[in-house]
Amino acid sequence: MTDNKIILDGKEVSFTPGETIYEIATRQETFIPTLCYDPRLKAFGACRLCVVDIKGMKNPVASCTTAATAGMDVSTSNERIEKFRKTLLEMVVSENRELEVTPLRSIASQELTLLVDKYDAHNGRFQGAQSGHSKLDDANPFLLRDYDLCISCYRCVRVCAEQEGDYAISVMNRGFHTQITTEFNGFLKDSACTFCGQCVQTCPTGALGDKKALRNA
Ligand code: FES
Repeated sequence: MTDNKIILDGKEVSFTPGETIYEIATRQETFIPTLCYDPRLKAFGACRLCVVDIKGMKNPVASCTTAATAGMDVSTSNERIEKFRKTLLEMVVSENRELEVTPLRSIASQELTLLVDKYDAHNGRFQGAQSGHSKLDDANPFLLRDYDLCISCYRCVRVCAEQEGDYAISVMNRGFHTQITTEFNGFLKDSACTFCGQCVQTCPTGALGDKKALRNA
């Protein structure tokens, strides 16, 4: 095979140096599920839903953070990968209190629900403690913060930093106690937030919502 070509699901495709497997697959209109990915942001590799198999590698790799190299033989979907994705979604859902959120919360708010439906992953197989807690009482007229629905994909934190340069949203605690928050865990109106709404538009679960749209419904 010549340089800058990989095998993607049995088909030879060209790539530009630096392109990730996910970007190549998307260009080829090959579906790979994602949750922490937003094309405007640096790839983060947190949710692992975008994993693919590469021939010769023992474990699946995250396609959103793996750059293609010449000669790679990639499988984007097979029994093992699909089972892996379904299990991941089942674990995410075990943490997420509500899947039936109104699309009025944001454009992206249905992403998790659609994937759970697609993979039939809403079966309660995993149960236990749930992390995160809400900030529903945040006294601002624009942004609903409902962290009971948060899956810690960090898209809101990253869009605020990378697109807006605001750093109004951040993270506190670690591991199971990780919580999306603001500076000093205060209200948004007391933070550097400009209420641009970028965080709402990228949130894949409706944990962040547009209060104005919800008011007018
Ligand atoms: S989309 Fe690749 S790890 Fe989340």
